Amino acid sequence: MKINRRTLFAGTAAAALTPAARGSSATPAAAPITMSGIRDAAVDLSGEWHYSIDPYRDGAAGFHGEAPGFGHRRYDVIDVEAYMRDHPTALIEYDMALSPTAQLPASWLTHAPDMRRYVGLVWYQRTFQLGALTAPRAFVQVGAANYATTVFVNGTQVGSHIGGFTPFTCEIPAGLLKVGENQITLGVDNAATWDTVPPQVTDWENYGGITRDVRIVLTPATFIDDAWVRLTRDGRIAADVKLDGAHAANAEVRVRIAGLGLTLHGSTDAQGVWSGKSSPPHTLQLWSPDSPHLYDILIEGAGDTLHERVGFRTIETRGDQILLNGQPIFLRGICMHEEELGAEPSRNMTPEAARALLTTAKQGLGCNFMRLAHYPHSESTTRLADELGIIIWSEVPVYWRINWDNPDTLATARAMISENIRRDRNRAAICLWSIANETPLGDARLRFLTQLAADVRALDDTRLVTAALLTERRTQDGKPLMVLNDPLADHLDVLGVNTYNGWYSDDPLSSLPDIGWRSDYGKPMIFSELGADALAGFHDTGGAHKFSEEFQAEYYRQTLAMTEKIPFLRGMSPWILKDFRSPRRQHPIYQQGWNRKGLISPTGDRKQAFAVLAEHYARLAAQR
Ligand code: GCU
Repeated sequence: MKINRRTLFAGTAAAALTPAARGSSATPAAAPITMSGIRDAAVDLSGEWHYSIDPYRDGAAGFHGEAPGFGHRRYDVIDVEAYMRDHPTALIEYDMALSPTAQLPASWLTHAPDMRRYVGLVWYQRTFQLGALTAPRAFVQVGAANYATTVFVNGTQVGSHIGGFTPFTCEIPAGLLKVGENQITLGVDNAATWDTVPPQVTDWENYGGITRDVRIVLTPATFIDDAWVRLTRDGRIAADVKLDGAHAANAEVRVRIAGLGLTLHGSTDAQGVWSGKSSPPHTLQLWSPDSPHLYDILIEGAGDTLHERVGFRTIETRGDQILLNGQPIFLRGICMHEEELGAEPSRNMTPEAARALLTTAKQGLGCNFMRLAHYPHSESTTRLADELGIIIWSEVPVYWRINWDNPDTLATARAMISENIRRDRNRAAICLWSIANETPLGDARLRFLTQLAADVRALDDTRLVTAALLTERRTQDGKPLMVLNDPLADHLDVLGVNTYNGWYSDDPLSSLPDIGWRSDYGKPMIFSELGADALAGFHDTGGAHKFSEEFQAEYYRQTLAMTEKIPFLRGMSPWILKDFRSPRRQHPIYQQGWNRKGLISPTGDRKQAFAVLAEHYARLAAQR
């Protein structure tokens, strides 16, 4: 009997996303202020919040699915104790002010021992003071909340958002904020289904909750919502600026690049948008991993100003080569999840946490490239990559068994791509946008991903489109031959390939260098993954035991030898810099809920394979 997966899980889907978080018509979906991350007129709400679990989503819907009643709405502005004292017959089955507290941003997995495996809806609430209401407009800006979020200010819903890894903003209607104490409540639901992006089966921890900053962003009546400044492939500096507000149309706009003595300026159109181009002076210093030069940019429009720091470079392909600033480059990379060093990570990637990991990659391994898997990482990380000079592969979590037939799933993926690109397209470090990872071939999948590739190109014509693909295994002259044969390749610029021969196969390690590779696409290929597990400190001097450091090191030696025989290979990002939490990995000795393919342990201890890759990259760098 063929089960219609959609029917099978529809109920789950309905239950998993709180009605408000499904983008109900009651309130506008979050309005993206793409530049809000750098606005300094803001109230930072990091710190102590109360939280209350709600596994049956009582605060989102009554027992017949109707709107939640009094006594169940965690977001009501009420002193519960005083109210019940003054109204003896009243029944209120929550009290946020007496609920436990946690320091945000951080996933709820580390709030308390009983939260470690919680899946469902959690309500967060805190108050904040406003001394005066001077700014004409105010927004709630959330760096990321995993996965479906509903936002309330002073008891009124101001927005909702679906997606665990991209920023969103909700405008606070005039008159809702008040001088003195205000209350903000977020309902965050991390339940994944076969309709979510990612789906409910992945190979990483589902860190639920508010994992990046929450701020109240204050803006003028008309403000700079988006500004994109970059070097085009034909060598021009291009700028696009979008204003938002009553005076966005026909407004003067300036983009000043002091380091170049260059100012682009003009007037916005009726939609508040302006575009301009100019040839840069010959003094332009291009951004590259060896010279990550950033320019201070001042953007002015309708009385608003924004400061950005931007690098100028070009990235393109020529045949099966990848060209950075017109020169062939080999990407010496490593993969990374958004999970900080430490035995109990909570996906709180502070600038310091990001720096610890990125400098290990750049200085320890000699990387010029990193794949930020499998979802958009924090702005701390992508801005640091700009500063350190690390080329970035950025991706959305279209991963494994996506429900290709569900239009809502496609809409979610498309929104994620737009939010990711609009947040980060000023980051010179980002050179590749990836649209999928290890997705099974099929017509519905091809239609879905072709749409995503088209969206990327419409939003950003300066970067390369890629995806992590699987390959076919054949035999030629008695030896394995891996063949790239995926119709999606026609829609990509760079072909990412995940390969694990010798780990997820019984190929003897000594046979790996003789594995052949074939691609008829005439495009650059990079190994977006290769790797093997090792429990740090577990040794088998014979090197035969999987999960030993010796096996992992020998796997790397033999696999790297294989890579040197592939003429159209233009880079690699081995899987993975650091061991990471994965509920799929439950060997009681070697895994304990961790994927052990890291070259370093959760606390940063380097395994033997770390030196093998570092030596390989040092040799490649010396050959340039
Ligand atoms: C897969 C997948 C990763 C996973 C890795 C592994 O290819 O892309 O998310 O963690 O391989 O099996 O360790």
